[in-house]
Amino acid sequence: MLMRLRFILLFLLTPFVLFAQDLIPKPVSFEKREGTFRLNSSTVVLNESASEEVKSIAESMRLRIASTTHLNPELVKVARRNFISFSINSELAAEAYTIHIDNEKAELKGGSGRSLFYAYQTLLQLFEDQIYNSEASYGFRLTLPACDIFDQPRFGYRGSMLDVGRHLMPVSFIKKYIDLLAMYKFNQFHWHLTEDQGWRIEIKKYPKLTEVGAYRKESMVGHYSDQKFDGKQYGGFYTQEEVKEIVAYAASKYINVIPEIEMPGHAQAALASYPELGCTGGPYEVRTLWGVSENVYCPYETTFTFLQDVLTEVMELFPSEYIHIGGDECPKTTWEESEFCQNLIKSEGLGDEHGLQSYFISRIDSFLTSKGRKLIGWDEILEGGLSPNATVMSWRGTEGGIEAARQKHDVIMSPNSYYYLDYYQGDPATEPLAIGGNLPLEKVYSYEPFTDELTEDQQQYILGVQGNLWTEYIATPEKAEYMLFPRLLAVAETGWSPQGEKDYENFVSRVQGHFGKLLMRNVNFSRSIWNLESEVTGNPGQGLTLWLNTVVENPVIRYNLGEELPDGNSPVYDPEKGIKIEKGTMIRAALFDKDNKPYGNVFTTTLKVNKATGKTYEYRSKPTRYTGGSTYALTDGKVGVLNNNNTWVGLNGDDLDLTLDLGEITEINELIIGFLHAPGSWIMYPKNLQISTSEDGEKFRDYPVYDLTVPEGASAAGQSMMNLNGVKARYLKIKAENYGSLPEGHAGAGKPAWLFVDEIEVN
Ligand code: ACM
Repeated sequence: MLMRLRFILLFLLTPFVLFAQDLIPKPVSFEKREGTFRLNSSTVVLNESASEEVKSIAESMRLRIASTTHLNPELVKVARRNFISFSINSELAAEAYTIHIDNEKAELKGGSGRSLFYAYQTLLQLFEDQIYNSEASYGFRLTLPACDIFDQPRFGYRGSMLDVGRHLMPVSFIKKYIDLLAMYKFNQFHWHLTEDQGWRIEIKKYPKLTEVGAYRKESMVGHYSDQKFDGKQYGGFYTQEEVKEIVAYAASKYINVIPEIEMPGHAQAALASYPELGCTGGPYEVRTLWGVSENVYCPYETTFTFLQDVLTEVMELFPSEYIHIGGDECPKTTWEESEFCQNLIKSEGLGDEHGLQSYFISRIDSFLTSKGRKLIGWDEILEGGLSPNATVMSWRGTEGGIEAARQKHDVIMSPNSYYYLDYYQGDPATEPLAIGGNLPLEKVYSYEPFTDELTEDQQQYILGVQGNLWTEYIATPEKAEYMLFPRLLAVAETGWSPQGEKDYENFVSRVQGHFGKLLMRNVNFSRSIWNLESEVTGNPGQGLTLWLNTVVENPVIRYNLGEELPDGNSPVYDPEKGIKIEKGTMIRAALFDKDNKPYGNVFTTTLKVNKATGKTYEYRSKPTRYTGGSTYALTDGKVGVLNNNNTWVGLNGDDLDLTLDLGEITEINELIIGFLHAPGSWIMYPKNLQISTSEDGEKFRDYPVYDLTVPEGASAAGQSMMNLNGVKARYLKIKAENYGSLPEGHAGAGKPAWLFVDEIEVN
């Protein structure tokens, strides 16, 4: 069993550096010029336009300056110099804007009010961080660098989703979130309002949805795999007045709010409120477990009436053309057992339950279309055919989106493999609890929506990108901010900036420039980009070398071998030599600033050194996706960690089948191999282990097949040990038989299981 290390945050202050060019998302073009525009007591904000929209943006600028400095500029109709001006230039495309700054003025022009607002957001980023303060700082003057900017977005859809079903967030936070979306030029806020674990929007015609459906009797504590509960009632909802307030607030920031009302699955809270909408008739309770419920809407006529009534109230509250109806993760078990459903499948000629799901979505699609709206659903809505009007949101990787574009459906890319911002952004040992996964900033930034798998014509169906924040493990605004920032900035840049210009090093330097701005806005952003990354290389016969990497330029890293935290007197890491490890030990390291004080998370790893460490092996079936990191992941001394899939070697459907070369004839007493048991992630413990040994690599001695015992618990890292009684051998053939197809009742029944392995130890 692997121990979870304490979350240690040593030190939060850092030397924030400001570069005027720290714009995120990066504009289409930015030309720096000589000079600076210094605002002073005679600076004015100029609005020559009669438009209320332009006036309102100019007024925002005036207020920002007045509330953060001792200056108090007037809003004027005429000015010759020393001004910041806002105007519409009808020669620009609606989404495009320009900014010109010289020693005397800053001129912002937009093709529309919307793009002028984007110009304003860019201008704010060009000021000192103080412009984002919530209070005035006296004696402080603002300056702007002379430059010329032309800019416009790459994609028309730049979204961010918040799940309030699992955990509710206060209206004040939703507004702050919208402000931050506006700062980074997002234009869509996808609000996930209904879930198995809670219904969060007031519906006047069906009051029990919030009287009953908004409250669950308790919540899970710790990870799902711990199966523990807190015994405390949890709940709440947004009134229609609050919803209107949020929609109007977002509109004032040029952000459209897309409501999501889930169907036919993720509906248990609705069924708890109105059990007659489920196939079994209940009783149901608002779900307390995370994960997917089998209790889904039954496709009765009364269910469609209910959903249309709900959607009618929702459409009155949300002017959004898009209405999201979920459509994901709908288990078919209750439909299979329902006589009503089976008769409906026959009478409508639907074939099977997947046809029934398609029928369900099509009926809702027709309804929304008849009201002049457009349906969005998660990529499962593709199954069984889809009406041409529907837009697909690709979440199970990118495949759903690619398939949808081929079928000429509009697509929004929000693949879990890049954009699920509830996944870990650093080593789980130093991160607060998350659902799992591994999505450091660099991975999020690396996503490119266009792919060779689509023709140029097909690519045009990709409307844009979206980051998603699911909140099973995110109960507070502070933690939501921690998970969103800075990773949402990477989504923003992919959605906005021109294709093919990504440069992670440049981006990560701009991100650090934004930390000061986010501090001013009281955002609890993550510093995990400063985490030290490690790599281990083997020195045959001489243990291991540990290498440390960081995004910080010219870093000073100090380390200790053992449990003690590094301090100002600990040895300094030498990037030329790495750290030589001759016997098993814990290693702890940290970054140190100019005052020789540590900052960021403490890096901790434990390396094992044994007869297999640093030795090579050859696979007969090579892992492709989960390679465990380094070339010798199975013998690199680093042991796979529960809840961090990237620390394991994974084989999809294949057996583990390799030959380990110990380099010379070696006495082997004990062979230990670690495997992962995590059925919820489709990772199954292997069935058995077959070992053969050889001195020469030709003649092998087979040992009896060794049946493996699955470790206890919903998920666990297990170790299987075999006694080889001091046999002398150089080669070890190791074969672990994959579990095979996932069993009946599993969400992926019939699909191949993953086999996860790490580490191989020989003693
Ligand atoms: C999803 O994550 N089930 C859309």
